[in-house]
Amino acid sequence: MNFLITGAAGFLGSALANQLSREGHQVRGLDDLSTGEPQALFEDVHFTRGDVNDRPKLWTLLQDVDCVYHLAARVFVAESMLYPKEYNAVNVGGTVSLMEAMRDVGVGRVVFISSGAVYGDQQAQPVNEKMPTRPHSPYAVSKLAAEYYVNTIGALWGIDTAILRVFNAFGPGQHLPPAHAPLIPNFIRQAVRGGTLRRHPGDPWRWPPDAGLYLRHRCSAGDDRRRNRPQGQPAGDQCGQWAGDQCARRGGKGA
Ligand SMILES: NC(=O)c1ccc[n+]([C@@H]2O[C@H](COP(=O)([O-])OP(=O)(O)OC[C@H]3O[C@@H](n4cnc5c(N)ncnc54)[C@H](O)[C@@H]3O)[C@@H](O)[C@H]2O)c1
Repeated sequence: MNFLITGAAGFLGSALANQLSREGHQVRGLDDLSTGEPQALFEDVHFTRGDVNDRPKLWTLLQDVDCVYHLAARVFVAESMLYPKEYNAVNVGGTVSLMEAMRDVGVGRVVFISSGAVYGDQQAQPVNEKMPTRPHSPYAVSKLAAEYYVNTIGALWGIDTAILRVFNAFGPGQHLPPAHAPLIPNFIRQAVRGGTLRRHPGDPWRWPPDAGLYLRHRCSAGDDRRRNRPQGQPAGDQCGQWAGDQCARRGGKGA
């Protein structure tokens, strides 16, 4: 199949593009490189630098495409509170531009990567899909608005749509900014350093009491596997491998 991935040079987009390419599909990637890194992509992925709001570019890239994965977005919740207009322009405007361009070219299928952030704070845990959405940040609002556009334009023009509300993905290649780092990698980093595992005040997420112990165990296990496995053989799971990489960078010890 022929795929177009927006946000292809990002953390999730590059993993998806490389996996589809590995499976023998033709993959085109679009990314403005505002945060993405094109060197994360396999050579077989045809990469184009550009803005998801650039409709002429989308018309070209969408030729003969069977399915689009739409991941291009501004993704930092705290930043979205400072710059809601920019988040609206990329996350909502970019989604509408893409849907219009798909309609113009006649591409019939899109998978939109939304966010669990649309649920906001919920009294009951774990969250399920029947719960009402309660976005608490411009980022969350932008993802929810984009969902509505994807569903509405898709229904109007006969485009098959699927929406995935991703919660706190983590794994190899993920950026860890010093401030506002993603939740799980931040916990792993703290566990590797022997630091305290703290939630933000008011954070509604529940963690098992032994979560810290588990993470530290996974870090040790990842480190052991790195040392013992034959060269070129991947670790059994990506979490352990990633945690192992973090440990190895710090000499296998907490800093
Ligand atoms: N990582 C997670 O835990 C998580 C959770 C929920 C939802 N998501 C969603 O998954 C998608 C990918 O997230 P990620 O974690 O890989 O983030 P990421 O920042 O690594 O990827 C987003 C990519 O979009 C690109 N981009 C930004 N603005 C663009 C524009 N105007 N035109 C073209 N490209 C642009 C960036 O350069 C970046 O490469 C996003 O839509 C995000 O909202 C991610």
